[in-house]
Amino acid sequence: MNPITYSENSVSSKLLKFLEKNYPLSKWVFLVDDQTHILCYEKILSSNFYDISIEIIQVETGEENKSIEQSIQLWETFTEYGFSKNTVLIVIGGGVLCDLGAFVASTYKRGIPYVLVPTTLLAMVDASIGGKCGVNFLQYKNQIGLFSECKRIFIDDIFLKTLPEKELICGLAEMLKHALIADYNFWKKIRKNELHNISIKQIKEATQIKMKIVLQDPYEKNVRKILNFGHTFAHAIEHLFLNENCNLSHGEAVLWGMVYELQLSVKHLKMPKKEAKEVIQFIKQYTSIPNWTSEQIKEIIIAMRQDKKNNTTNINFTLLSKIGQATFDCFLSEIEILEVFQEVNQSIK
Ligand SMILES: NC(=O)c1ccc[n+]([C@@H]2O[C@H](COP(=O)([O-])OP(=O)(O)OC[C@H]3O[C@@H](n4cnc5c(N)ncnc54)[C@H](O)[C@@H]3O)[C@@H](O)[C@H]2O)c1
Repeated sequence: MNPITYSENSVSSKLLKFLEKNYPLSKWVFLVDDQTHILCYEKILSSNFYDISIEIIQVETGEENKSIEQSIQLWETFTEYGFSKNTVLIVIGGGVLCDLGAFVASTYKRGIPYVLVPTTLLAMVDASIGGKCGVNFLQYKNQIGLFSECKRIFIDDIFLKTLPEKELICGLAEMLKHALIADYNFWKKIRKNELHNISIKQIKEATQIKMKIVLQDPYEKNVRKILNFGHTFAHAIEHLFLNENCNLSHGEAVLWGMVYELQLSVKHLKMPKKEAKEVIQFIKQYTSIPNWTSEQIKEIIIAMRQDKKNNTTNINFTLLSKIGQATFDCFLSEIEILEVFQEVNQSIK
């Protein structure tokens, strides 16, 4: 399992110490996007790295860059610069960059070492943890990818200071998901918490929920599937937006996805209505669910068929029997999914 270093405002010195100890003779290469270059890289560079020879590669921000085309460009750059097993890649970014950087590093020359420095809340509590990496393909989410282990993850709340509220909400979405699938007490804490007061302690609690699940089932053969709660809908909705060239953050899609899957949980696993309603009300403080057209619903259901976890006829969901208790491999028909769309559409009218 990937070791994690948590810190408050001292990521720069911790990272330097780690690199000096473990990669003293390697080339250190930083991967950033245009946002994290300005807002996060400087925080790491500081005086600690003064006089040390490093290289930096910048890509454009955005989900559309989590692509094979961007991966090819990076492999080309790695080759031109002569990167080898004696190169360590340090990824400084949100979930998009963590997924992309990890994918490119673990496939180039059958894998070079890499370190993740997640800079969004979502990447800290979810995307950097658990070894999944990959890129989107033909507008389908995470269609190409693999499991791969980074050398270390550095989580520091200093990066949250520049994070827009919208991105904090996205991180909160995955923290909420962790609570709903595995920890009722964590849900109680999240419920009370102020969005702008998320502490390193809570981040650690969220990462530990995910790590505990991943440790039991690193390759998603069984229990790890519960981490997909909300994601069957979310990934299909993201596909729709990618197809229409519209922006949608992963976290917002997950919030929407959880609303539909809470509704399915009430119907199919007898989740108490009261609990589902409380969670849906909490979610609605942060986002409004779109009223989809029938054409869009059709598109979303078609995209769901691409989900890696389906069987030949039905779509695979993780559902809740109550807050803190999830069941994976709940297979539902397209009719049942259509019904839930209609119910949620009715409730938001
Ligand atoms: N591998 C996994 O297990 C896993 C799990 C969950 C999500 N994901 C993936 O994560 C991606 C979403 O990640 P995300 O929500 O972090 O989006 P993102 O990486 O696109 O980051 C959102 C925006 O915030 C900017 N940013 C990053 N750090 C910042 C900071 N400290 N201050 C200001 N701006 C900052 C980025 O440049 C970007 O513009 C999706 O592609 C999703 O599929 C992967």
